[in-house]
Amino acid sequence: MTNKLKTLLVLYYSVGGSTKGLANCIARGARKVDGIEVKLRTVAKISPDTQASEPVIPHDGDPYCSLDDLANCNALALGSPTRFGNMAAPLKYFIDGTANLWANGSLEGIPAAVFTSSSSLHGGQESTLLSMMLPLLHHGMLITGVPYSEHAIRKTLSGGTPYGPSHYESHSAGAEISEEEKSIAMTLGERLANLALKL
Ligand SMILES: Cc1cc2nc3c(=O)[nH]c(=O)nc-3n(C[C@H](O)[C@H](O)[C@H](O)COP(=O)(O)O)c2cc1C
Repeated sequence: MTNKLKTLLVLYYSVGGSTKGLANCIARGARKVDGIEVKLRTVAKISPDTQASEPVIPHDGDPYCSLDDLANCNALALGSPTRFGNMAAPLKYFIDGTANLWANGSLEGIPAAVFTSSSSLHGGQESTLLSMMLPLLHHGMLITGVPYSEHAIRKTLSGGTPYGPSHYESHSAGAEISEEEKSIAMTLGERLANLALKL
C-alpha cells in the first residue's frame, strides 16, 4: 500500500488579492482532508510588447505554475478575476500553452473546479465561471461545483455560486471575504480533495 499524497493544485491569477483570498480558503478546506497536499500557484502578468516583463521567479507570493505542476495534479481549482465577464488574459495565456497536455490526454479524468472575484454583484461572475470550465472540458477534466447542501449558497448576500466559489468586492468590504464566501470556498476545497482521493 502506498502513502503517496494526492495533490490539489490551486492555480489562480490575482492583482488586488480577492481571487487569491478565495484560493487560500479553498486550500484551507482541502487541508482538512488527510492524504492531500495543496500547491498554490499563480501565473505571470503578460506584456503587450511580447517581451517577458516579469522575472522568471516572482519576488513574493506563490510560485508561477509550470506545466509539470498541472500535469501531475490529482485535482485542480482554477481562479481568475472577472474581466469583462470572462477570465483574465494572463490565465488564458497560460491555458493556451497547454496544447501538449491536451494532445496527450494528461488531464483526462482529473476533477476540476473554478472560482472568481468581481467588483459588481451582477457583473459577470457566472459567465466567467462557466467560460472558465470550457478549456477544462476540452482537456477531459471532471468539472464539479458546490452543492446546495452547503447552506451558505442559499444565505449569501455577496458571492458564492453552485458553479463555483466567488467573491463580490462590495465598496464596504473590498477584498475582505465574507463568512459565506469563505465557507463555500472551503467546502469546494474539501470536495476536490475527497474527489482526488476517490478517483
Ligand atoms: C480590465 C478589467 C475588467 C474587469 N471586468 C469586470 C467585470 O466584467 N465585472 C466586474 O464585476 N468586475 C470587473 N472587474 C473588476 C475585477 O473583477 C475585480 O476587481 C476583482 O475582484 C479583482 O480580483 P483580484 O483582486 O483577484 O485581482 C474588472 C477589472 C479589470 C481590471
